[in-house]
Amino acid sequence: MKVLVTGGAGYIGSTICSALRDSGHTPVILDSLVTGQEAFTKGHIFYRGDIADTAVIDRIFADHPDIRLTVHCAALIVVPESMERPYEYYKENVSKSVELFHALLRHKVEGIVFSSSASIYDVVADFKVSEDSPLNPQSPYARTKFMMEMVLKDFTAAYGLKAIALRYFNPIGADPKMRSGIHVREPSHVVGKLVDCARGKIPVFQLTGVGWPTRDGSGLRDYIHVWDLARAHVAAVENFAGVFAGQSADTRYEVINLGTGSGVTVRELVASFERVFGKTLNKTDAPPRPGDNAGSYASCEKAFKLLHWATEKTTDDGIRDALRWGECRKTILGYD
Ligand SMILES: NC(=O)c1ccc[n+]([C@@H]2O[C@H](COP(=O)([O-])OP(=O)(O)OC[C@H]3O[C@@H](n4cnc5c(N)ncnc54)[C@H](O)[C@@H]3O)[C@@H](O)[C@H]2O)c1
Repeated sequence: MKVLVTGGAGYIGSTICSALRDSGHTPVILDSLVTGQEAFTKGHIFYRGDIADTAVIDRIFADHPDIRLTVHCAALIVVPESMERPYEYYKENVSKSVELFHALLRHKVEGIVFSSSASIYDVVADFKVSEDSPLNPQSPYARTKFMMEMVLKDFTAAYGLKAIALRYFNPIGADPKMRSGIHVREPSHVVGKLVDCARGKIPVFQLTGVGWPTRDGSGLRDYIHVWDLARAHVAAVENFAGVFAGQSADTRYEVINLGTGSGVTVRELVASFERVFGKTLNKTDAPPRPGDNAGSYASCEKAFKLLHWATEKTTDDGIRDALRWGECRKTILGYD
């Protein structure tokens, strides 16, 4: 199947493209490279352009009229930056996505798989969230994801389109075949920082937020290997009609959590990292970052039921692949 993947030159989008191709599908990438990497598009059909540029979208569909589904990953993704530059985040993630969806409707695309985020959930007492748990997005970034879920719900109700919003928990690791991985020079996510500390790029790992009401005071997250996340998109694409089969005709929009179903605290993650790495790191406790909260982990029953998907990789696999990617990314990206 041919699938348009926006943001296919990014960390997650590129892994999705590899997983699609490994499963016999053909991804068509649309990416402006505002943050993504041209190196990740190697060997794929690639259009460099903005998601709101209708001319490039028209060209893509003229060249590939057999595209039926779109996986929409393109977005700006840095939470603290979204607090300083909300205009750019609402413009890039909301206004431009609305234009993209409008163009996709013109080209009679059947469905959209949307990259949403667990950051839209409120914190609940036992930290386990299902798709029906209360929402409370705490940053402009998270609010852009929440807004796009609402837009999709309205578009699917009005225009006959179908859509699945996949709420990602905390992706870690890299493509197991090392075709892509984290590409930012200074990662803001915890595993990226641990790898940088292990490789001597930063002198001390700061464990931010140690006063949360969790079992050891550090934040609790659900770390999902990016390859498992990518496999879930393959399942969503292959089983797109099946997700809606057997439901009432007006069910055109579904929300599905993508996590492992286990909560891991940051202290536990650091301990696992040191065990896998084989050395202890220089580390210190630090205050929480703006927009942080105690965290959550996923209830994954719906993903299993609708996508017939479950994670296969462990947190240790994610750490191991992140370390391997740290060693080889210079060859692919041209910078360390
Ligand atoms: N990384 C995470 O922890 C995480 C967690 C939850 C959800 N998500 C979501 O997953 C998606 C992918 O995230 P990622 O980590 O791969 O980020 P990324 O920055 O690596 O990838 C985003 C890609 O989108 C492209 N892009 C951005 N704006 C564009 C535009 N207007 N037109 C065309 N291309 C554009 C960028 O060039 C980049 O290649 C995002 O929607 C993000 O919100 C990520």
